[in-house]
Amino acid sequence: MTAPSSVPSSTAARSHGAPAVTGARFSRITGTGSYLPPRRLTNHDMVAMLAARGIETSDEWIVERTGIRARHFADDGVNASDLALPAARDALESAGRKPSDVDLIIVATSTPDMVFPSTASILQHKLGVHGCAAFDLQAVCSGFVYALTVADAMVRAGSARCALVVGAEVFSRILDFNDRTTCVLFGDGAGAVVVEASSSPGILAADLHADGRHLGILCTPGTVAGGQVSGTPLLKMDGPAVFKLAVGVLESAARAVLEKAGRTEADLDWLIPHQANIRIMQGTARKLKLPLEKLVATVDEHGNTSAASVPLALDVAVKSGRLRRGDTVMLEGVGGGFTWGAVLFDY
Ligand code: ACO
Repeated sequence: MTAPSSVPSSTAARSHGAPAVTGARFSRITGTGSYLPPRRLTNHDMVAMLAARGIETSDEWIVERTGIRARHFADDGVNASDLALPAARDALESAGRKPSDVDLIIVATSTPDMVFPSTASILQHKLGVHGCAAFDLQAVCSGFVYALTVADAMVRAGSARCALVVGAEVFSRILDFNDRTTCVLFGDGAGAVVVEASSSPGILAADLHADGRHLGILCTPGTVAGGQVSGTPLLKMDGPAVFKLAVGVLESAARAVLEKAGRTEADLDWLIPHQANIRIMQGTARKLKLPLEKLVATVDEHGNTSAASVPLALDVAVKSGRLRRGDTVMLEGVGGGFTWGAVLFDY
């Protein structure tokens, strides 16, 4: 039986993607991209915004406790897929690929455009390609590290040859602007990478974890039920509890992924952890005995963009010329779930 023309047959779906690489047993990152919505709010803008609600905060408190100086917020009506699209195009261009080369799209997000379909399907449509596998992955601030691990496994298994992996978030939509302990921390943005089959190793090892016992310390508990939002649809976080857990798991994931790859801390050129708090990031670097010059930090300008934070920081490091081909890079995620993990790769 022939498949209807609007539904791609498996053969048609396989016609997507970059040409096969002879002897490809590995995957590597071949391009990076990112996008920030133009509306930039400094801490002083946040102070004024919260003062209008009778809530006190200060630039000094935010900088000293978090390292954040500014963040970007998407305008009303701009969704995660709208931020993902320019980031994806940027990554494809830097990899020298076209949207039609892509045979797998994974979008890591906790702020999808809709309950369903996936933001990945919406992104695929906006990219003007149809038929390749596309799905969302939800691991909150660890989402990009999880998504990159899945893409690596699928490429190495031969299920995909050219994967687009995106982290895209509009966290401003789920912030409680009456809660100063959370609303000053987050921002919107998107980052993307292209992962391709390769005959030489790029992605070396990954280490992923989750522990649902801690789900209450960081959550947006609302859901859609009976045509209404049931429960609070705004982010809740016990900051000090998250801080304590994050510091420990980022160190253990870093050591685990190095061991899996047969590398040591001395082999690292760059550490790109989830951009939530400069104190957590610098603490992790110190525990790994890495000089702070090897730490990529964009939290000052981006705030915490959840699943977008790591690919955004990666792209900033690449585009600024600091991170070069051949460098060894560790990415680390940590966030709601509680989830955490690390990916090690040679760029
Ligand atoms: N402005 C001024 N004062 C504030 C503000 C603010 N915006 N927010 C809190 N305070 C006050 C508190 O009320 C408290 O006052 P009190 O001592 O009179 O009670 C004081 O500052 C200290 O508050 P703490 O919460 O103990 O401050 P802390 O130093 O722990 O910093 C922070 C809070 C920045 C949230 C920190 O705990 C943190 O970074 N946690 C980890 C966040 C993280 O890593 N998240 C990652 C995952 S995100 C995800 O998955 C979606």
